[in-house]
Amino acid sequence: MAEAAFKKNCSSCHGDNGDVFVDRNWKHGNTKDSLILSIMKGHADSLNPVWVTTLKEDEVSILADYLLKGIAYRKTFNFEGDSITKSTVHHKSMSVKLDTVAKGLSSPWGMSFLPGGDFVYTDREGKMYRQSNGKQSEIKGVPPVYAMAQGGVLDVQAHPQFDKNKLIFISYSKLKDSAGVKLATTALMCAKLDGNSLKEGKNIFVALPWKSTPIHYGSRIEFDKEGKIFLTVGDRFQHMDTLPQKLDNDLGKIHRINDDGSVPADNPFINVTGARPTIWSYGHRNPQSLSIHPETGAIWENEHGPRGGDELNLIEKGKNYGWPIISYGINYNGKILTPHTSKEGLEQPKIKWIPSLGPSGMTIVTSDKYPAWKGDILMGSLRFQFLNRVHLVGNNPDEQEQLLKKIGRVRMVEQGPDGFIYIGVEGKPGFIFRLVPVNAQMQ
Ligand code: HEC
Repeated sequence: MAEAAFKKNCSSCHGDNGDVFVDRNWKHGNTKDSLILSIMKGHADSLNPVWVTTLKEDEVSILADYLLKGIAYRKTFNFEGDSITKSTVHHKSMSVKLDTVAKGLSSPWGMSFLPGGDFVYTDREGKMYRQSNGKQSEIKGVPPVYAMAQGGVLDVQAHPQFDKNKLIFISYSKLKDSAGVKLATTALMCAKLDGNSLKEGKNIFVALPWKSTPIHYGSRIEFDKEGKIFLTVGDRFQHMDTLPQKLDNDLGKIHRINDDGSVPADNPFINVTGARPTIWSYGHRNPQSLSIHPETGAIWENEHGPRGGDELNLIEKGKNYGWPIISYGINYNGKILTPHTSKEGLEQPKIKWIPSLGPSGMTIVTSDKYPAWKGDILMGSLRFQFLNRVHLVGNNPDEQEQLLKKIGRVRMVEQGPDGFIYIGVEGKPGFIFRLVPVNAQMQ
């Protein structure tokens, strides 16, 4: 009822639903009394209309309660009083100990495990490391990167047959100079890892067109069971040109490619004239993570909305996820970006987060180490600095739990072959932690 009243009376200026109020900087107070006053009387310094003549007092009260519900939800992310001072953190579902695996990093972005217990990881500003029996060594031969804003050396994945071919895949922001203008794009390099050196590196995918913005690269790499590579590419903040909606370019897309860069014959747009053949799905904004369920093959992706409207999507072949035609977010200046949150033929997110969590690295827990989390999605929140657990019932998200509150900006989440969850936390310094379940009796 409140939602319907909001749609009828308020939507023309404040958008489809009251969610736009959840995350705002309040100018005139967010208590019930001040909301009622704002709605009924407006304010001399702004253009909001005066409703006192058209809305009854109880209708205004219902609308104020509706907005208050949103404000209360926003407060659940404040984490007042929480802080991680001990290495063991207790949660309703289970307790974990934080085991420091690597430190002295700035932004651990991607991580991949090699056969035999070694692993490799990136530090966004341009470095890559191999860790062997606790010893960290820098990897040589990392491609030059445009380490500005969100760019740098981003994700890394070892080939599923790494023990035979030693191949490693690295996504990064590639820079070129075009008549004095710096242009960048998302690129995927394949190289052989020989000890601590990358050799025979070649770019097997370079997203087109290049753009001058240093943000929204996407860049997660994931292999599916058949050994095909999925790579996310952001819209490079070019949504005004509706590039994510057009199939003639690579931006705002999830791509599917063979491990040598060639195009799989069963990609959805392979026979569409003018379409980029590597596209698997489109209409994305800035896909920060992609995880393929090892058993069901379901492809989960999360992406950043504008302000509000971050999404968890279940990705299906050839589908359009709507950006920038539909969105639950608003523009950064508070203006409405698009009045539409849904439209025929455009996919709805499985979860939309308002306020924005700034979702980041994500994994699906399949190991037996975390009985209470098995089958669930774990996903970093950059903005509110915690690890979000999304309980999945089949392919439907259910309740969510806030884990490791105030841990810092969680950029990366991976499950190792040892069954443990590893998280990368940005900061000065940044860390990689292993989450070790604590036996309930020992707490
Ligand atoms: C004709 C456009 C318009 C309509 C319709 C409208 N508003 Fe507003 N509203 C504004 C403007 C403009 C402002 C002042 C700028 C701002 O704070 O966004 C405002 C401000 C507000 C504020 C104060 C925000 C603060 O920061 O303190 C509240 C609360 C509010 N509106 C609620 C409502 C509700 C509820 C409805 C429906 C009953 C509604 N408005 C209908 C334009 C409108």
